[in-house]
Formats: sequence, structure tokens, C-alpha cells
Amino acid sequence: MNSVLVASNRGPVSFTVSDDGELTMKRGGGGLVSGLSGVAKGDGVLWVCAALADGDRSAVRMAPGGRIDHAGYDTGPLRMLDIPPAVFHRAYNAVANSTLWFVNHLLYDIPNAPNFGTKFEREWESYRDYNGAFALALAEEAGHGARVMVQDYHLTLTPAMLRAERPDLRIAHFSHTPWAPPEYFSLLPDDVAREVLEGILGADHAGFLTDRWAQAFMDCCVALLGAEADRVGRSVTHEGRTTRIGVHSLGVDGAALWERACEPDVESHMAALREQVGDRRLIVRIDRTELSKNIVRGLVAYREFLAAHPEWHGRVVHLAFAYPSRHDLPEYREYTASVQRSAQEIEDEYATEDWDPLILNVNDDYPRSLAAYRLADVLLVNPIRDGMNLVAKEGPVLSPRCALVLSREAGAAAELGPHALVVNPYDVSGTAAALHQALVMPEDERRARRDRLHAAATALPPQKWLAAQLDALA
Ligand code: G6P
Repeated sequence: MNSVLVASNRGPVSFTVSDDGELTMKRGGGGLVSGLSGVAKGDGVLWVCAALADGDRSAVRMAPGGRIDHAGYDTGPLRMLDIPPAVFHRAYNAVANSTLWFVNHLLYDIPNAPNFGTKFEREWESYRDYNGAFALALAEEAGHGARVMVQDYHLTLTPAMLRAERPDLRIAHFSHTPWAPPEYFSLLPDDVAREVLEGILGADHAGFLTDRWAQAFMDCCVALLGAEADRVGRSVTHEGRTTRIGVHSLGVDGAALWERACEPDVESHMAALREQVGDRRLIVRIDRTELSKNIVRGLVAYREFLAAHPEWHGRVVHLAFAYPSRHDLPEYREYTASVQRSAQEIEDEYATEDWDPLILNVNDDYPRSLAAYRLADVLLVNPIRDGMNLVAKEGPVLSPRCALVLSREAGAAAELGPHALVVNPYDVSGTAAALHQALVMPEDERRARRDRLHAAATALPPQKWLAAQLDALA
């Protein structure tokens, strides 16, 4: 039986299956996996995750009890849950990604969405089933008094469900996203909003990446549940139970990241990129192709910068790398298309025979992204709203001289803001001006700022993040 367990929708690895049935394993993407992968594996923590697609389902079928590590893969202790595809699809795509993600990142086009009707009732039912499947698996795997760390908006109901099943456990929930203010959170149907909050309050400890998101969660508990919140001591009391609220920022394991970024595959991407761009200055961005990342406004800002500063024509290249994400959702496919259209407009207006002002790649891979970080002069991170944003922290670890242009709406701004050029993500002219300021920043200032960014980014590596939460459950 296990004494420490982690549960999340996406696990540390995913599988693809080829036509001849052969399975290939690759590392999962996104902030949660980047943060947790190293620590969970190293410390023998049992990780429980969902099978996301056919490749994962095939892997689960070959693994006794869903234990991928028992089927000969070097993943660390890992159990994958084969939740029926239709249930998974409704829970992951319709509820988690199209509803809870949209609410917490303030992404709705309000005059038209959301619409909560009978279709949503069915989707919500599936979200309950999916959370229940996790609660059941955790209840089976956890030793007496074990500590269980439930991750993110996919699993808001699991803590309360698990507590009902196994009151001996010590349960934490952690949100890797922002949290919405009550006026926006209450777009959700009232009973759903309450169920989400009460689900998380089923934990002993509810963690957030910044004080801002923790306060917003407490605001929602007060406004929608009539709970009592202790703002200073950070706790919420509801129906006689108290849940402690924790703020645990997540940073980067600088040494491990640097080691990975020095491997030959990254070095050869660096050489190829240098060959492509010559000695021009580089403005780099790296994201999931994600609505909240604000890629289109970033491109519009770059276009404004080029219009305002002809002296930079031919001397700068914007590398915009994004890797595909959530393409089952039409909004994401449309967004990717609109990113491509904005890029094309820049090409049409500014490209010359010997200068490509923009290199956009919406299918990027990890080693190439690491190569781009190492070469960056400017890193642009301008999300509409973001729980933390690890790109803002990875960049200064890998680039010796990058200046960071950072959205004030990213959780990372709480720690990195003083050393970055902070922008309002909706203000494209302001962002264009910051790009210029970042490019012309004197060498000694950019190196001094980068050193301070590096220190702030690596102050709370995932090991400390995990340890602080386990301590909070002790
Ligand atoms: C964010 C979320 C993670 C999620 C990741 C990637 O970082 O907080 O929970 O795993 O995005 O999204 P995906 O839908 O591909 O898992």
C-alpha cells in the first residue's frame, strides 16, 4: 500500500499506437506535468492518471492493474485509469476544458456563451463519474493514513468523494490555474458552483499558486456557500469543517533543466536555428496553442513594433513556437487558425527576400523549444490570465541574457514582476513598446535582471513545492 499518492488527469507520459500496434511512449506536456514529473518519480510516489487516448488505453490493457511501471516502462509508480471514452470525453473536453478552464481564465465570449442546458447536465454527470473513478482508485491504492495530493480543475470533486470513502486519509487539492472572482465564477449553475467548491473543501488543504488565486477562492466560498474565511490565517470553515488554504508557488529545477538543454538534440536544433536566423536578435515565445496564452495579441504587438521601428527591419526575428493542445475543441482549432492568419499578415507586410521577420511553428517539440530559450534575447509571455506560467521561469534559466516581457495577469508576475518588463496583456501598443524596450536594454542591465529572474525562478523548485504540501498535510 502507498503512503503518498498524486492524482491528475494527465500523467507523466502518454502513448501513441502505430498501425502495426506498436506503442511509443512520450513525456506529457503542460505546467503540471513539467513540475511534478521529476519529483514524483524520484520519491516513489504513486501517480494515478487517466488514459487520454487510444495509445494510453492500449498501454493500460497490457499493464496488470493499470500499473504502467509493472509493464516494463520506466515511469516510476504509475497507475493509469481506463475511463470509458464517452465519459472521459464529456468530463475532460466539455466540463474541465470548456467550462471550468474557461471560467477560471475568464475566457467566455459572454454575449454568446456559456449556455447551461440539458446537454450540460449530462456532461456534469460524466464529470462526477470521472471524479468518482479517481476517488475509487485512490481509495484502493492508499495505505492507512496516507497522504493524497489531488491536482487541478479536472478533479475538483474527488477530495470530498475520497474523504467520504476513506476518512483516515489526509487529502490535499492543488489548483494549477487561476481562480475566478465570485461574479465570474457564478456564471456556473448554482448547484454546480457549490459542488465544485464543496468538492475542494473536502480536502484538508487546498493549495494555489499565488495569494491572488487563493483569495479569489476564499471569496467564492464566502459569497456562494456562506462559508467563513480567515484571510490572514488562510482557512475556510464550512458546515463545521475547516480546510486550510495554502499558497505554494512553483518554480523550476534549474540544474535539471540546464542539463536537459545541453543534450545533443537541443544543440543540433540550436545550430539549425542559428543557421536560419543568422546573427539577428531573437524575440522568443513558447506556449501551448492555448486561448489564454494570448498569442494573437502578441503577434499584433510585434507587428506594431515593426511598424513603429523600421530601424529593426532585417535585424530581428520573432520565433513563436507553440505545441498543439486540446484540438478536440473547435475553439482551439479556430484559435490556431487565427494565430496562423496573424502570422501570415506579418509575412505579407514585412518579409523580404533575405529576411523572415517571423518563424511560427504550431507543432513544435520540446528540444527545439529548449534551443529557442537558449538563444533568446527577449522572451514574450503575455497571457490573458495564467496560474503561474513556467515558460517565464524556464527562459531566464536557459538564456544568459534574455529580457522578459511579462503579463501582469500571469501568476509568475508576483515573483518575477520586479525584474521583468510588465505589460497589460490587452494593451498591444504597450506590449509593442515593451518589446522595443527589451531589445534596446543595455547589456549590463539585461544581464543583471536576468540573474535576478534566474534566482527567483529557481527559488522554489518542484521538490520544495511538493515537500511544503506534504508538510502541510503532516
Ligand atoms: C495546464 C493545466 C494542466 C494541464 C496542462 C495541459 O497547465 O493546469 O492540468 O495538464 O495545462 O493541458 P492538457 O489539457 O493538454 O492536459
